[in-house]
Amino acid sequence: MLTLHSHPSGRHFLQIPGPTNVPDRVLRAIDQPTIDHRGPAFGALGRAVLEGMQRIFQTASPVVIYPSSGTGAWEAALVNTLSPGDAVLMAETGHFASLWCRLARRLGLEVDLIEGDWRHPVDPARIAERLAADAARRIKAVCVVHNETSTGVASDIAAVRAAIDGAGHPALLMVDTISSLGAIDYRHDEWGVDVSISGSQKGLMLPPGLSFNVVGPRALAAAGSARLPRSYWDWREMLGPNENGYFPYTPATNLLYGLHEAIAMLEAEGLPRVYARHRRHAEAARLAVRAWGLEVLCADAAACSPALTAVLMPGGQGADALRRTILARFDMSLGQGLGRLSDRVFRIGHLGHFNDLTLCGTLAGVEMGLAAAGVPHRGGGVRAAMEFLARAPRDARG
Ligand SMILES: Cc1ncc(COP(=O)(O)O)c(C=O)c1O
Repeated sequence: MLTLHSHPSGRHFLQIPGPTNVPDRVLRAIDQPTIDHRGPAFGALGRAVLEGMQRIFQTASPVVIYPSSGTGAWEAALVNTLSPGDAVLMAETGHFASLWCRLARRLGLEVDLIEGDWRHPVDPARIAERLAADAARRIKAVCVVHNETSTGVASDIAAVRAAIDGAGHPALLMVDTISSLGAIDYRHDEWGVDVSISGSQKGLMLPPGLSFNVVGPRALAAAGSARLPRSYWDWREMLGPNENGYFPYTPATNLLYGLHEAIAMLEAEGLPRVYARHRRHAEAARLAVRAWGLEVLCADAAACSPALTAVLMPGGQGADALRRTILARFDMSLGQGLGRLSDRVFRIGHLGHFNDLTLCGTLAGVEMGLAAAGVPHRGGGVRAAMEFLARAPRDARG
């Protein structure tokens, strides 16, 4: 077997903000014989996961599942609904919003980008402003990232919807939920989202390899007249066979077994409790960071992500050297700084298959790593988190 790390004992701590740790239950579910995806047994699996994902997205609209990473689902959302030269409004919340913007430009869309400092959420007032100025209605879609994985900042999607409605603008609302789904409360229908985009490898606790679009009714109508070229991503090819649980091309059958199990796990815990668990662990993580005397990158307390915490390195110290020390000494992977945050932050993932002691172990690895790497800090971060967790037991209602 390929040896990927040198620690012979104990479990590797995969504390990047996705891919996340895959529960044993999900691994066991994946480890079953692949079946004929056009045979009689497959339809029941397909229907179960398609309907299950509607419950996770909190929508009555169809969900499309692609065998791809999240980037494919970004592309699918755009090519199914838009035409060459259409304008889209995007908000630069961080690295992933920037990548989505680049992808849109490569497809021939004209992106109106609301610039940001990578420390704040989407500002609905600026969205309203741009839409109000668009008298010719050239903007066909507003595209935002719910949880910016590069910064640990979450945006208020209901407020973005309210800004679009307040401006009386017909643009579609597309939301990237790649690192929020299954970790942060997300309501496709209630929040009036037209296309939701997600991936399997974060809150859904699966390996990478599946991505999702939720296709709202206005988005489906737009697909009828959209002229960007599409074939593999075409929703209309998918939706027919999906009605009976089948796919137009070979699906990632074993990942669908895993998805079935992951949905069961999320629903057994209950979505409100899942979200409360993530909020509580995020709060404990931030307490630790502050006790260390370090700074959380998110500069808006109300927008700090329940899924991950990005931590700024003090006094020009390199984050990558710290992460290398932590990996070598304690066998834990932390998220690296991306784009303009390269080497300036490290990111602690606290989403997915995660509990109080996973958090304590993670924070202990960081605290020991700070000491081992000679990063100036105060001790007591793990203690602060432990005291919070002991004092604030998990609410039975979540
Ligand atoms: C918010 C967000 N959007 C998009 C992506 C890109 O997804 P993928 O790497 O699965 O293509 C990621 C990946 O981490 C992400 O976190």
